[in-house]
Amino acid sequence: MQNILITGGAGYIGSHTVVALHEAGFRPVIIDNLSNSDARVLDGIAHITGTRPSFYRGDCRDIDLLRKIFTQEDIAGVIHFAAYKAVGESVQEPLKYYDNNINALLRVLIASQEHSAGQEHVFPFIFSSSATVYGEADTMPLTEETPRKPATNPYGNTKAIAEDILHDVVHAQRRANASLYATPLHAIALRYFNPIGAHPSAAIGENPHGRPENLVPYLVQAASGRREPLTIYGNDYPTPDGTGVRDYIHVVDLAEAHVAAMQYAFAQTDAPRFDIFNIGTGRGTSVKELIATFEEVTGVNVPHTIGARRPGDVAVCYADTTKAADILGWRARCSIADALRDAWVWEQRQHTTS
Ligand code: NAD
Ligand code: UFG
Repeated sequence: MQNILITGGAGYIGSHTVVALHEAGFRPVIIDNLSNSDARVLDGIAHITGTRPSFYRGDCRDIDLLRKIFTQEDIAGVIHFAAYKAVGESVQEPLKYYDNNINALLRVLIASQEHSAGQEHVFPFIFSSSATVYGEADTMPLTEETPRKPATNPYGNTKAIAEDILHDVVHAQRRANASLYATPLHAIALRYFNPIGAHPSAAIGENPHGRPENLVPYLVQAASGRREPLTIYGNDYPTPDGTGVRDYIHVVDLAEAHVAAMQYAFAQTDAPRFDIFNIGTGRGTSVKELIATFEEVTGVNVPHTIGARRPGDVAVCYADTTKAADILGWRARCSIADALRDAWVWEQRQHTTS
């Protein structure tokens, strides 16, 4: 059984991935400083899997702690989720974002290199990137070959910089495969589209601190009456109904993509290498369509108003997922209706138990 370090494993996507890895026969080891999560998520994971994952409360910028975990747990691969992710906050506090998102990546990479140096088997390093790196693209759907555009906010820039760091590290290794850094690193950046939903058990889900910025967490809180009506940010986009179009993916499908990427990396023999995959459904859904689907599957009305466009939003963003299907053998299986139903059950559970 291979031990996989999951940084940020107490978070939204990380916790679902811990479950998926466990179900696939890996042994997840979590490091999380709980800056945007709660230790109770470990109970939720244990409820689903029957096993409490190994958990280290600490910061990924603490290289000594990382070295201790790598040795103690004999880590065979990494999935690096730990980062701050609020776009608006990143504009207000860019240093906070560059410090955490870049320095955490560097420390985890250094510890991975040190630990795997000289090993004969591949060391997978999977990184959480984002469709935000495409910016306002000229064509849809987005393929991995679609040129990246300069980031419009510091959060997005940390994802672009992180991809460049992974590229440079891997290519340096390919050139000089006799140094300490001659490690069998197989780096994979997964560019997530819009993750939504919760585990169908409602034992884990998304738990944003404060007022949610993203559509679905806000929508479910507005539907339950915990928030003011949802504001639709603009109905004058060049889309069929005028509202923004995104590629919403169930978080359980997204978690499965990490398992597929991990299995793929372990099966390779030509590391070091760096691969990039879009992780979405390939389908675009407008804000109005999403509200209508939510109302249909839950029978609950979503109070909403139309407001101005949100600065920085693109009109349309959805993935071409051919590469992930062809190479990883992965594709999304759940519908938006499934995801919205699960998000609603999770919201109700929070509401009644908090
Ligand atoms: P999340 O905030 O729920 O999870 C991140 C976890 O990392 C949290 O539990 C937090 O406590 C932890 N963390 C942050 N900095 C840390 C540090 N220095 N050391 C240890 N732990 C730390 O976020 P999420 O939605 O699960 O996102 C996971 C990753 O996916 C992030 O890198 C995010 O940028 C990326 N991503 C998310 C989305 C999305 O819409 N949720 C989209 C694209 C990419
Ligand atoms: N929206 C509203 N009202 C809200 C919130 C969102 O109408 O209260 C709309 C947005 O305008 C957009 C859609 O709903 O059209 C989705 O918005 P989200 O904030 O849920 O998601 P984004 O696509 O803006 O951003 C997400 C992640 C970012 C990531 C980006 C990259 O949150 O971290 O995808 O694609 F950078």
